Amino acid sequence: MIPTPQTDLSVDQIKLADVEFWTRPDRDACFAKLRTERPVSFHEEFEYPGLPKGPGFWAVTRWEDVWTVSRNPDLFISGKGSNLSDMPLELLEFFGSMINMDAPRHTKLRLLVNKGFTPRMVARVEEMVRERARAIVDAVAPRGECDFVTDIAAALPLQIICEMMGIPSSDHRRIFELTNIILGVGDPEYASTIEELMAAGLELFQFAQDLGQGRLERATDDITSALMHAEVDGERLSAQEFGSFFILLVAAGNETTRNAISHGMKALTDWPEARRSWQADFERYKATAVEEIVRWATPVIHFRRTVTRDTELSGQPLKAGDKVVMWYTAANRDPEKFADPYRFDITREPNEHVGYGAGGPHFCLGANLARREIAVMFEELFRRLPDIAISGPPDMLLSAFIHGIKRMPCTFTPRAA
Ligand code: HEM
Repeated sequence: MIPTPQTDLSVDQIKLADVEFWTRPDRDACFAKLRTERPVSFHEEFEYPGLPKGPGFWAVTRWEDVWTVSRNPDLFISGKGSNLSDMPLELLEFFGSMINMDAPRHTKLRLLVNKGFTPRMVARVEEMVRERARAIVDAVAPRGECDFVTDIAAALPLQIICEMMGIPSSDHRRIFELTNIILGVGDPEYASTIEELMAAGLELFQFAQDLGQGRLERATDDITSALMHAEVDGERLSAQEFGSFFILLVAAGNETTRNAISHGMKALTDWPEARRSWQADFERYKATAVEEIVRWATPVIHFRRTVTRDTELSGQPLKAGDKVVMWYTAANRDPEKFADPYRFDITREPNEHVGYGAGGPHFCLGANLARREIAVMFEELFRRLPDIAISGPPDMLLSAFIHGIKRMPCTFTPRAA
């Protein structure tokens, strides 16, 4: 059994809203301490330049409590924001679309959007995932080394989400840069001010408006066309709704799966036994390995809710209006739920991780697509570059929200293209 990691910090010294905390190497240990000693703990708020400092939040770290919050959407709502900071309502909707909404609006929007994810559309995308993954691996094969994140892990989700939406390939690079800014806020390499974030959001929004308008006039065979023409109760997506959903979809589609693939490759390098088993019998472990990669990576570190009436969680009283943050990263290492949680175990079953959320109305819309992308990418890597391995330390994104790797070198025996 891998021992629970330890920290020198006392529970009072763990300050989740300090930027410095997110540079610490003992994060898992700090979350383990919170989970055992104070499973629902109060924290001061982050200070974001340009936004007022909020009232603080409750950090929920046990799997069971995260499950409870996620599955009680009347008591724990999303409409006041699903990220830590308090943004004006217009901004919430602008950036977050349905992730920052509650029923009945959320339900209506999700029904509309589901029409873009019909079995026919998903089947088409599945074929595309295979083609694209092959092309990505083939392109690096003769080189013998590359940046795993940019050249391999990030390339696949970017191309797929852009293709699904019907975005011309000449624009893929710009979409990648803009989503990096939106979800990289806080890391000085991407964006440090609210103005930079807004500018990136507006550019994506404008892009979506033009794309959507074009497909409204002349439908093609992509999700944008399906979404622009879909109706629920005689209503269609407004231009504003489509623009915001587009921002959510390209950001969510780009910035999560790539980190799962990157952390997955790192874990497979660090756990050679697991890797050997998977490579020896890919199909046998495919489903469980992909779930374990997402538990291990936990690409989305947290989401927030707001309490609607006084209640309690693990004995901690909560008041209406309090902010509650579900730390998926802590829940996914909870020993009450996962045996030997610090072991990367591709045979883990059951594996009720909360990497895609802990259930309830907002459960990840792209979970099946992400599973497919991760599985196909590793299948192609093992087939074409069977000795690929991470060869240097990962350069981590500074973020309390996205468990991101910005760059990470890898090597392999070169192959002819
Ligand atoms: C490994 C990859 C991914 C991870 C870890 C992930 C994680 C998450 C999480 C934690 C949530 C919030 C769930 C909740 O609050 O209950 C979420 C929601 C969402 N995800 Fe993903 N996601 C991934 C891939 C994707 C992809 C590829 C897409 C797009 C095609 C996508 C689209 C969305 C959307 C639209 C929502 C909002 C759903 C709603 O509010 O109803 N995700 N995802």
